Amino acid sequence: MARIARAERQAQLTQLARQAARCQACPLWAGATQTVFGEGPASARLMLVGEQPGDREDQQGHPFVGPAGHLLDEALERLGWPREKLYLTNAVKHFKYELRGKRRMHKTPGQREVQACSPWLEQEIAAVDPKAIVALGATAARAVLGRAVPVLANRGQWLRREDGRRVLVTLHPSALLRDRGTQREVAMAAWLDDLRRADEDEEGGGA
Ligand code: URA
Repeated sequence: MARIARAERQAQLTQLARQAARCQACPLWAGATQTVFGEGPASARLMLVGEQPGDREDQQGHPFVGPAGHLLDEALERLGWPREKLYLTNAVKHFKYELRGKRRMHKTPGQREVQACSPWLEQEIAAVDPKAIVALGATAARAVLGRAVPVLANRGQWLRREDGRRVLVTLHPSALLRDRGTQREVAMAAWLDDLRRADEDEEGGGA
């Protein structure tokens, strides 16, 4: 019974990704190579939500495959969390950028773009029905919680959505990319502490 339900939810995700590939709900589609939809099993216990695809993700069509994704992969390896067991997605599914010469420079998505993309994210959350959602950075936190949340003041803490789902807010991996050497290692250790909490159950033990 549960296996059928899971297969159905996986099929739903596939269907959603197909529909999102044609999304023109905001103007970002016009400058992007493609929609970058979420990826991972419908059975994932954790859903990690980022901001939007970057240059590399836009070209390859997969979330978190650029520099921020490599840092996330390093963290997942250190946590012993296989990437293929997580559902990874973004608040916004098209790359927003501005051109500087030939370079496409990341531009933070605005609230209207986050809102236009919100039906996709909500349907992903409903289909995966994760035990917990990890919001990586302010854009993700706002998209998931429906309100602005100061990330530094709330990092590593459990918050709740209106539907009761648990959300852990922490830094976006690109925030760590700015650090070098020892500073990066210190920031990484604190980030791993935050992320580790996401796998705790409601009482604080390992789930
Ligand atoms: N940053 C994000 O927030 N998401 C990605 O997929 C890549 C970089």
